[in-house]
Formats: sequence, structure tokens, C-alpha cells
Amino acid sequence: MKVTIFGTGYVGLVQAAVLADAGYDTVCVDVDPLKIAQLIKGHVPIYEPGLEALVNDNAADGRLRFTTEAAEGVAHGEVIFIAVGTPPDEDGSADLKYVLAVAGSIAEHMAAHKTVVVKSTVPVGTCDRVEARIRQGLAARGRADLTFDVASNPEFLKEGSAVADCMKPDRIVIGVSTGRAERTLRELYAPFNRNHEKIIAMDVRSAELTKYAANCMLATKISFMNEMANLADRLGADIERVRRGIGSDPRIGYHFIYPGIGYGGSCFPKDVQALIRTAGEIGFEAELLKSVEARNNSQKRFLVDKIVDVFGGDLEGRVFALWGLAFKPNTDDMREAPSRVIMEALWAAGARVQAYDPKAMEECARLYGDRGDLVLCPTQEAALDGADALIVATEWKSFHAPDFEAMKAALKQPVIFDGRNLYEPDVVARHGLSHHAVGRPATKSGRGSVPEEVVVLPSMAAGGAR
Ligand SMILES: NC(=O)c1ccc[n+]([C@@H]2O[C@H](COP(=O)([O-])OP(=O)(O)OC[C@H]3O[C@@H](n4cnc5c(N)ncnc54)[C@H](O)[C@@H]3O)[C@@H](O)[C@H]2O)c1
Repeated sequence: MKVTIFGTGYVGLVQAAVLADAGYDTVCVDVDPLKIAQLIKGHVPIYEPGLEALVNDNAADGRLRFTTEAAEGVAHGEVIFIAVGTPPDEDGSADLKYVLAVAGSIAEHMAAHKTVVVKSTVPVGTCDRVEARIRQGLAARGRADLTFDVASNPEFLKEGSAVADCMKPDRIVIGVSTGRAERTLRELYAPFNRNHEKIIAMDVRSAELTKYAANCMLATKISFMNEMANLADRLGADIERVRRGIGSDPRIGYHFIYPGIGYGGSCFPKDVQALIRTAGEIGFEAELLKSVEARNNSQKRFLVDKIVDVFGGDLEGRVFALWGLAFKPNTDDMREAPSRVIMEALWAAGARVQAYDPKAMEECARLYGDRGDLVLCPTQEAALDGADALIVATEWKSFHAPDFEAMKAALKQPVIFDGRNLYEPDVVARHGLSHHAVGRPATKSGRGSVPEEVVVLPSMAAGGAR
């Protein structure tokens, strides 16, 4: 079976490489000529573990090719995936212009039956619009005789483990309206469905909604825990103990209940917003989702408020080490990352930032360019040098067990703002550093984490401990 994938981003490129690896003759089409030129040269423009080798091996074997020519892509694929971006429009709804542009290209160039598979995350009813656009384009060409199916096949991969997720998916949701489309997709996914049945076939609208429901559920879990962390913070409880306490209930479970400084990335924020918007369009108030979004927006400022509590609102002349720029570990993606809210707030208050991230340095340079109040440091240790305090914004593996003694020696103030609750307060305190985490009692250097020993650093709050 020949496959074409429109869009070579996190979803399209990974899906293409994985399908090519399973033996499918695969062509990738993207409108970005720079991206395609890089891919042809063997340079993968995004970071995903295992992706570059998979792309280059399959390209070398001739099963994976790249082009900017839509006509070539449409002629090639019996199955054509649409995996282009669906960014939020100004009003928060999903902007479908890229998806519909691909539908237009398919109508313009197709000359035989095609199965068009919408993999982008799209609002309910989009597959109907894709079908209408193709039908309209074919009619305009006088080729209304050509047949095609449009199916929904939402993607559930996680950035940071996208290749592994795509190779061994938990489930493969397909939304189909014809037996022919279902047979084609079952055949296509057969190599990934050997161990046990993973295909969940349903109608197209349910499949479209399944993707939003999944992301909104996960976002809700995060915002719920962040709300609890705020309560713990004010009530003198330790959210990490609470987390273990509730996670032990199998109805709740331990997954996805880590408190932190908010979710980011290209999916949760925009998908929550888009579903709120979809609901609004049909006169339904998505009250819960609105709260999930509001909690997340304020959560991204959680550490900024802590920093102001400790250092005061005027941060002129202060320098902060920032560990972690990507919205989560194992990716270089900084879309909607909490690190950006933190950096921008620090800059607005007059501070400078010395940042380090294992993979997102190039992306940070691309986003913020050359500015005097940002130094991109070559190592996590270099970021600490002469900084007033450390902020941890992403839970990268290499941040989990730092050399606290060296950290203390490098920082001007022995203070950590731990946005991912990576460190045990007592351990940090034993090394002589103060620790401000999310929903955990703050500890002053040399003290334990038990509530009666909590100290909020009054000398520094007064701005005198520089
Ligand atoms: N990133 C994720 O973790 C993830 C997970 C599941 C679903 N999704 C969804 O998948 C879709 C794609 O996400 P992404 O992160 O891969 O996006 P991305 O922004 O990384 O990539 C999209 C690509 O589409 C290309 N493109 C735009 N218009 C095109 C056209 N007409 N023809 C060919 N290429 C075109 C862009 O140049 C870009 O390279 C979105 O709807 C997203 O919500 C993303």
C-alpha cells in the first residue's frame, strides 16, 4: 500500500517514518521548503528520541521520500494522511485553513480512488467539511466521477516518546463511514495490531470528539492537582504526600497527577480552548473546561509569585538560572511552555535569565533572538554561575540529582524555586539551600520539611539578603 502524509511536524514525520519502517512506500509533503530541504539532506528539524535514525534509515532504503509538490504526493498515495497543524484562531477555535488547503490540493490532483485520513486534531464535523471541499474541487474539474473516502484517525502520541508511541500504540481510533474505509485502515494498521486488538472503530464524529475528550481529561487531571497544590500551599499541607495518598486509590491512579507549573505544548492548551469554543458555538457553556484553562493560566505564574515573595517585585539587577525551557522533557518544543511565562515576567521586572535546556536551546534562540537579558548557557552548571537563585521549569532527567554542594557554591543566594517538585525539601535543606516548591512547605537552608520548621525567608522577602 502506498502512503502519502501531508505535514512533516511532530505527528506527520513520526507517522511517516514508522509506516515506512513497517514497509510502506511513503511520501511526505510539506509546504515548508526549508524543512523539506533539511529532511532530504538527512537533517531532522525537530527533536524526538529515535526519530532521526528512523527517518534516515528508511530514506536510505528508498521507502521514505520528501517533496514540496502536492501533485506528486496526491498521485503517490492510495492512503493520504492530513497531519498539518490546527493552531488556535484568534477566538480560540481550531484554525482549519491548512487542513482544508490539503483537501483542496487532493481534489485538484487526484485521478483515482483515495482514502483520505484526517490525523490532525480537528473539531467535530471537520471530516464532513474535508469531504465537501474535495467534492466541490472535483466537480469544478469535471471529475465528479472519482470516488474517495474520508476517515478520522486521531493521533495520541506523546511528544518525547512519539516514535515509541507510534510503533506500539495503546489504541488506534478510526472513525469511518464506509466499510471500504474501515477495511483499508485495518489493512494499513495490521502490522501494529498483531499483539492484540488495538483498533477501536467508530463513527467519524465520535472519533473526532474522542481526541478532544482525551486531551481535555488529561488537562483536567493536571489542573485539578494544581488546584489542590494551591490549597496545600495555603493550608500548610504537602501536596506530594496528598498525591501519593490519592494515587493509591485504583479509581484515581498515579498517572498524570503530578502538581507543577502548568501544562503547555502544542496540544492541551489549544485543544481545551477549541472544545470550549465548539461548545459555545452550539450554545453550551463548557464550565469545567473554562476552569481548567483558567487554573492553568494562573499556574504558569506560580513560581513568579513565589520569586516576588522572596525577592520583592523589583528584580532589577537580579539574575536567575533557569533549568528547562521545553514544555516537558525529551522534546525541544517550547510552544506554550511555562518557562516562557516565567522568563517574560522576569524580564518585565528587570531581571536577567541564564538558561539551559538539553534540547531546546536552538528553539529558544529562534523564539527570542539575541537579547541582553537572556544568556543561553552550554551546561546546567554554567547557568548557575553567579545567579541569585535557580528556577526549575522542566523535569529533565539530568536535573533530578544535581550536585547540591556545587550548586550552593555557584549561586549568590542558596535558593531553589522547584516548579516540578523534583527535590525532597529535607535533602535540599541539608545541603544548605532554601527550597520553594509547588504545594509543599518552603524550607530554609539547614531546616527540615516538617510544618513547624517552615520558614519563609523573611530577610530575603525584605530584599536584604543579596
Ligand atoms: N504534537 C503533538 O504532540 C500532537 C499529538 C497528537 C495530535 N497532534 C495534532 O496533529 C496536528 C499536527 O501537529 P504537529 O505538532 O505535528 O504540527 P507541526 O506544526 O509540528 O507540523 C505541521 C506541519 O504541517 C505543515 N503544513 C502546513 N500546511 C501544509 C500543507 N498545505 N501541505 C503540507 N504541509 C503543510 C507545516 O509546514 C508543518 O511542517 C495538529 O492538529 C495537532 O493538534 C499533535
